[in-house]
Amino acid sequence: MFSRSIARRAFSSTAANPYKVTVIGAGGGIGQPLSLLLKLNHKVTDLRLYDIKGAHGVATDLSHIPTNSTVKGFGPDQADGLKNALTGTDVILIPAGVPRKPGMTRDDLFSINAGIVRDLAKSIADAAPKAKICVISNPVNSTVPIVAEVLKEKGVFDPKKLFGVTTLDTIRASRFISEVAGTNPTQEKVPVVGGHSGITIIPLISQTTHKLLPKEKRDALIHRIQFGGDEVVKAKNGAGSATLSMAQAGATFANFVLSGLDGEKDVISPSYVYSPLYKSEGIDFFSSPITFGPEGAAKVNPIGEISAEEEELLAKAKETLKKNIEKGINFVKQSK
Ligand code: NAI
Repeated sequence: MFSRSIARRAFSSTAANPYKVTVIGAGGGIGQPLSLLLKLNHKVTDLRLYDIKGAHGVATDLSHIPTNSTVKGFGPDQADGLKNALTGTDVILIPAGVPRKPGMTRDDLFSINAGIVRDLAKSIADAAPKAKICVISNPVNSTVPIVAEVLKEKGVFDPKKLFGVTTLDTIRASRFISEVAGTNPTQEKVPVVGGHSGITIIPLISQTTHKLLPKEKRDALIHRIQFGGDEVVKAKNGAGSATLSMAQAGATFANFVLSGLDGEKDVISPSYVYSPLYKSEGIDFFSSPITFGPEGAAKVNPIGEISAEEEELLAKAKETLKKNIEKGINFVKQSK
């Protein structure tokens, strides 16, 4: 519905409005290719790369590409490195932290990444309280509530400006469903809702043109979308998780946010946000299709009609999500 036209506009040669974008964790497996893709996006005119190691090299390398943006690297070796990378920025993407190794779940990363994300959120609250924040660091189901809790404590939380990036689940769904159905993956759109880990990932096959897939094939497809990340972790054999497909997903998501800022209409894609949808059940964060606008998440759309089978997936996902969210919030409360 939206992706092709947005992709065309992203790579057109005229910059509409100039936007400042900061990547935190820019020296890493995701950070490097993500920064490259952002360097190619003409909506971005000021690209700032921060990492505790390696950002200067990545920035200098990318700065030789002849697109509209300037690229600067920042690190802890500079006084106020992180502060300067953040001040006045419009959009922040956070792929900072450790990735999974074989046998690990995303939740196993909590002990290290929760602290990293909490501390980054404090710096963001101080230096860039108006920026749109896109959290990639796992476990997203918990790291997004962590950022929200820090921003709340600092009195700068705006639910419209905080996003968990779940786009990798939607791009995987497009690819995997096309492999099952023998179709063109660029034409496939599968809404994926819930959260971003295992059973909390709910692909809504009933809302696609493939709702009549035989049950066995459908179940296998759903499982592959939910656990597709494990294929990459296993194949990389200890060298990390998805980086290149994640960079593509992150750049696509950043472009949705930038298109919303630019006032483009009908920019809609799922994201894990502070959501009214299941708040009455104690679930404050949920991924559903978001309409992007100048303020960020202009509208949190409901998930729409789903099948009885998907209702069951949703019920199970909610149980896990609730725990993941509580874990994030309690972490911030206990570490005061
Ligand atoms: P990586 O280890 O290759 O890169 C992480 C980078 O973060 C490193 O360069 C490291 O120096 C940096 N870093 C660590 N602490 C930092 C801090 N306090 N400030 C700034 N930079 C810091 O890891 P990779 O593969 O890039 O993954 C990053 C994160 O993204 C992991 O948590 C991973 O689980 C997550 N991820 C999320 C996905 C999603 O769909 N949302 C998909 C794949 C990975």
